Amino acid sequence: MRVVVVGAGYVGLVTSACLAELGHEVTAIEIAPERLSRLQRGETPILEAHLDELLPRHTTSGRLRFTDSYDPVCDADVTFIAVNTPAGVFGQTDTRFVRAAFEAIAPRLRPGATLAVKSTVPPGTADAFAERLPDNIVVSNPEFLRQGTAVQDFFAPDRIVIGAQSQSDADALGCLYQSIDTRVFVTSRCSAELAKYAANCFLAMRISFINELSHLCESSGADVDELAQVIGADRRIGPDFLRAGLGWGGSCFPKDLLATIDIARLAGVPHALLDAVYDANVRQRQAAARHIADATRGCQRPVVGVLGLAFKPETDDVRGSPALEVIGCLLEQGFQIRAHDPQAMPNAAAALPNITYCEDAYDTARGADVVLLATEWPEYIELDWQRVRELMRGDTIADGRNALDPRRIAEAGLRYRGFGRASTTLASAIFEEARR
Ligand code: UDX
Repeated sequence: MRVVVVGAGYVGLVTSACLAELGHEVTAIEIAPERLSRLQRGETPILEAHLDELLPRHTTSGRLRFTDSYDPVCDADVTFIAVNTPAGVFGQTDTRFVRAAFEAIAPRLRPGATLAVKSTVPPGTADAFAERLPDNIVVSNPEFLRQGTAVQDFFAPDRIVIGAQSQSDADALGCLYQSIDTRVFVTSRCSAELAKYAANCFLAMRISFINELSHLCESSGADVDELAQVIGADRRIGPDFLRAGLGWGGSCFPKDLLATIDIARLAGVPHALLDAVYDANVRQRQAAARHIADATRGCQRPVVGVLGLAFKPETDDVRGSPALEVIGCLLEQGFQIRAHDPQAMPNAAAALPNITYCEDAYDTARGADVVLLATEWPEYIELDWQRVRELMRGDTIADGRNALDPRRIAEAGLRYRGFGRASTTLASAIFEEARR
């Protein structure tokens, strides 16, 4: 089928490349000149596994083209709106890019062609578009792609969601995905739009829940990892997204949670639980900054070495990154910061020019009073902790992702500090033993 995708960002680019891989003829519209020229050269402007194979393959095959012109919409069977919907100053969804894309698309859509809204938009957006396009099919088609695994998630989704006026309208889009073996949910447009927000809010809630319980674990001597295993074994709960630490970040969870709160506020319906999910997440950053301040009490011009800046591993994206938020807190308190990340330092430097960027983890530890693991990149998990200890000025490892082995840290003569891990006490005993 002939497909146009408006917006070649994280979602639009992955969607375009994967639809071309499925055999469709895809034209992606990107209006940013620098980004457009890179894409036309077959280069990927974002770090996403497999994109660097798919892009050159399909720009070469001719199945994937990039342009800044909306004219290809005139011949398209399906046109996607996949532009970003940033958070406004009060957390509301800023839909101006979506509305601008719609105004450029609408006059070019041929009768009977399909408009699919993939951007995350408030319920009612696609319905409003449908009223303006009586001769077209208008559907909502939210995505549930995770950064770092977006291509994999596209080809092996848990489900495909299509919000449509009828089954036949849904089928007009569904045939694009027919070679993907998964459940297809056909719902109203509003349900599809709200389901996207609801999914992210629920995932964020799970994380805020286990983070709140991690403080109870610390006060009661329980272990949050054991707790997560036990409750996660209940098939009604499941084991995923129950890892305590600095909390959730990224460009989606913060934006979509605040947007959902705003949608509820405007509708005059309760949103106390969503507010609490957000507040619990902020408290994790504050707790980490407090742990670090406690560990450096009395230090003159304390130095913290931060391992990891991306909001999670396998991405270079620092939007909403817990690492950057904790660093911001520490800078305000006069800390000096050394930091490293295998992929995200260029993006972090744009946001945080006044910290020291290091060669590797060991360089980051050099002279540090505390080393904070903020992003659980694999290369940080298996460090030579004896060498880290020799390089540090202090002796505290703050494990912001509960990803390290407290025993190994303690055996190296370092003090371990995680979130709600009873093994911390065991590690403390080993640490004290090692100090004697
Ligand atoms: C998320 C949703 O998973 C995806 O379905 C949606 O389409 C976009 O938003 P993403 O933002 O890429 O994807 O990140 P995700 O892998 O969900 O992690 C979000 C944040 O939660 C990260 O900061 C991660 O470190 C954190 N997290 C995740 C935890 O703190 N604990 C966990 O157990 C899992």
